[in-house]
Amino acid sequence: MGCLEGHLPIILGGDVKEFAWEVTNKCNLRCKHCYLNDVGSEPENALSKEEGLALLEEMAKLGPKDVMVVFEGGEPILCPYIYDYIEYASRLGMRPVMTSNGTLIDLEVARKLKQAGLVGISISIDGATQEVNDGIRGVGSYKKALEGLKACKEVGIHWNIAFVVNKYNVDQVPAIIELAKKLSKRSPNDPITSPPGVFLFHYIPLGNGAKNMPDAELSKEEYLGLLDYIFKYKVQHEGRLWIRPECMPQYWPFIIEEYEVEFEQDFTADMIRMCQAGIRHCCVTVTGEVTPCPYVRTSAGNVRDGGFLKIWRDAELFKKLRNPRSFLREPCRSCKYLEVCGGCRGRAEAHFGDCFEKDPSCPITPKP
Ligand SMILES: C[S@@+](CC[C@H](N)C(=O)[O-])C[C@H]1O[C@@H](n2cnc3c(N)ncnc32)[C@H](O)[C@@H]1O
Ligand code: SF4
Ligand code: SF4
Repeated sequence: MGCLEGHLPIILGGDVKEFAWEVTNKCNLRCKHCYLNDVGSEPENALSKEEGLALLEEMAKLGPKDVMVVFEGGEPILCPYIYDYIEYASRLGMRPVMTSNGTLIDLEVARKLKQAGLVGISISIDGATQEVNDGIRGVGSYKKALEGLKACKEVGIHWNIAFVVNKYNVDQVPAIIELAKKLSKRSPNDPITSPPGVFLFHYIPLGNGAKNMPDAELSKEEYLGLLDYIFKYKVQHEGRLWIRPECMPQYWPFIIEEYEVEFEQDFTADMIRMCQAGIRHCCVTVTGEVTPCPYVRTSAGNVRDGGFLKIWRDAELFKKLRNPRSFLREPCRSCKYLEVCGGCRGRAEAHFGDCFEKDPSCPITPKP
């Protein structure tokens, strides 16, 4: 799921790699903001089940405990092999998680997901109210997503909410946090032991989003206001409900500049780090293209040509992203915050067609 850093902080740590896999392009929704162009129908050359299982085997060779496989789509519940894939990833020792629109999850589906070995789930909700969410995700999706979330909670799947912040819902950020707090209330028999949370993703104008919501990106002022809100929440409130900025790599530069916070290496272990596209993250599309992140659509190669590991280890695109001081363009390349930020590579590509370009949303003017 997008810049996937810290997808499930409860199980992150060490050298965890997060591999998103778009297991299907089928989807029952047509969200206005969706970064995919071709959501809805399955391409003829989609990976087969056998190819999918072989892909998981390759991923596991990197040290299964350090690999988190994030099943995405399209809507992953619509993939006919989803339970087989989760089960196999789990059996290989990896950590299978999922991002879902939640609308197709009832108690029976939730139980099957749990039984297959799903460790955690992000349910996408893009408004704190039905009106705002359904305006983006379609009529009826709010109610159904909440039902799906509650079903996951009931069977003991660790859950969180994925909220994509854009101009039309940015004012609902406090309210979505309140909603998550309400949902996180525990009953005496609650099988979930670690705290849930809210991922605040930063909208990127890509795919259908670029067509339907071309002006929905936050202004620099809105973005700074959001970073400030996140920092204050973390300082004052974080407890049983965490919040995490995603695809907002300027969070660290912002709090260092604004609040003179000292950068602590440890803070980043489970939290926010430089954009990890191609470094610790990649995305495998439904047809087997391997890209640095779901939001960077440039392919480093196809798993059908020599396998996943060869691309992950040796593709030119990934090697360059792992050497940002040499390959990113200015101002990021010489920025003193490169190692903690690096700009969003997805936003750079969405705006300039080149993922090594500057991040046009950067609101930081470093103090000398
Ligand atoms: C493509 S969806 C696939 C999984 C599932 N169908 C869902 O909606 O959760 C993965 C995540 O990307 C988010 N997303 C979609 N378009 C986006 C965009 N233009 N910018 C940022 N995030 C986006 C979705 O809201 C969702 O949380
Ligand atoms: S964001 Fe998810 S649910 Fe919405 S159209 Fe895209 S793939 Fe489907
Ligand atoms: S110039 Fe680049 S690295 Fe520096 S703060 Fe802005 S986006 Fe981050």
